[in-house]
Amino acid sequence: MIRQERYARSDLKRIQQACCHVFMHAEALRPHTAATAGRAALRFPFLETLTWEQVQKAYRSNVLRYHPDRHQDKPYAVIERLGRHMEKVNHAYEYLAACFGRKSPCPSEELCGAGRIIAVGGAKGGIGKSILTANMGMLMAESGLKTVVVDLDLGGSDLHIYLGERVIPHVTLNDYLNRKHANLEDVVLRRPNRPHLIAGNSSEVGSANIPFMRKKKLLENLRKLGADYIILDLGGGTDYNTLDFFLAADTGIVVTTLDQPAYIEAYAFIKTALQRKLRGLFMADSTFICRDNHQLKDIVYACTEPADEHHPRTIEDLLISVHRNQPLSLPLIADEILGFSPYLVVNRCFDPQAAGRVVYNLTGVALRRLSINVTHLGSVGSHRELEQATSYLHHPVAARKPGGGLVHDLSTILRRLELFR
Ligand SMILES: Nc1ncnc2c1ncn2[C@@H]1O[C@H](COP(=O)(O)OP(=O)(O)O)[C@@H](O)[C@H]1O
Ligand SMILES: [Mg+2]
Repeated sequence: MIRQERYARSDLKRIQQACCHVFMHAEALRPHTAATAGRAALRFPFLETLTWEQVQKAYRSNVLRYHPDRHQDKPYAVIERLGRHMEKVNHAYEYLAACFGRKSPCPSEELCGAGRIIAVGGAKGGIGKSILTANMGMLMAESGLKTVVVDLDLGGSDLHIYLGERVIPHVTLNDYLNRKHANLEDVVLRRPNRPHLIAGNSSEVGSANIPFMRKKKLLENLRKLGADYIILDLGGGTDYNTLDFFLAADTGIVVTTLDQPAYIEAYAFIKTALQRKLRGLFMADSTFICRDNHQLKDIVYACTEPADEHHPRTIEDLLISVHRNQPLSLPLIADEILGFSPYLVVNRCFDPQAAGRVVYNLTGVALRRLSINVTHLGSVGSHRELEQATSYLHHPVAARKPGGGLVHDLSTILRRLELFR
């Protein structure tokens, strides 16, 4: 049995995800799901009764059913997909073994891996995504972490300004995207005591669209830069570029302010990203094991269409429909949904009570309508020095006021992400 009180909520989520991988079949999963009104969902309480023997049994049934060696007669693509699936199941099983062995899983072990990508998004412009990215990057670089910040606001690049660059740097991401520089390394700007910067240049025509393969390559090469952390400053809106970068990140932070349009758009951003993630499972490059299951694809597509008053479509509807029509795929879809767990930061917070209400409403509606956990990381106050940031172009705010409120707020957030001790 796993004692829930021993684990932080983020660890419980990872345990739950691992269970989703191991309890692949509806049969194996049935005793552990809470069924309400035809809906089956893997909830935390099932951990109270789960035993190591049950995990072992479910693991064995996975091996029997999915191990590539048992499918040697199938086409290569199928064997390859099964191999990838078994790899996930093996990791999940090892992780659960550590949990049942009473060894506390150490999330920081994973977090400290090389090249972790953190995306800072949120649909509205002007809410502080870039200024927070720049200053978080500053703090991380100062604390000795090799950090690269990347301006991915292709339509309104200004990250360089918050890092003290008066003019658009001589090399930018565009030079890499337009193949002027073949190596991403060549467009990284290195400044002493600052995070490394890959700046953008939105004044160049055509820079706002990145072809799919280029996007993929960019992400691969970002991870190869040798940095500990890469922070992506995303643009406003919910265009595909922005959503794809957010989804590809290991950690996604959604920024909002206390203004109603900002938190409504923050919710819309989260919802659209989840929908894009679920639809992406059936795209040609996807490694999702049920990618070619057309009935499942139709259900997912139907439930992720824009809702109208006659067809309110929630993720709960999707789970119910999958449960009814494709029960074997339910754990897989639930796993993908659970795997999407963005963080929330409230910026320009001048009233903690109002911030509490925004967080309560936003996390609540995400849980009810989308069945996902949004975790509040913290708030950043409304700081005068940030308002005037662009007037002091030489020094990023965090560098100018090391003991100030901004550094305090951001350090709290970074500690919660376990980037800081
Ligand atoms: N916490 C804050 N306190 C005071 N001013 C802020 C704060 N966050 C952002 N600002 C102001 O908002 C402006 C826009 O922020 P920016 O990071 O460029 O937004 P975005 O990237 O979301 O479009 C900044 O130039 C700064 O003046
Ligand atoms: Mg910005």
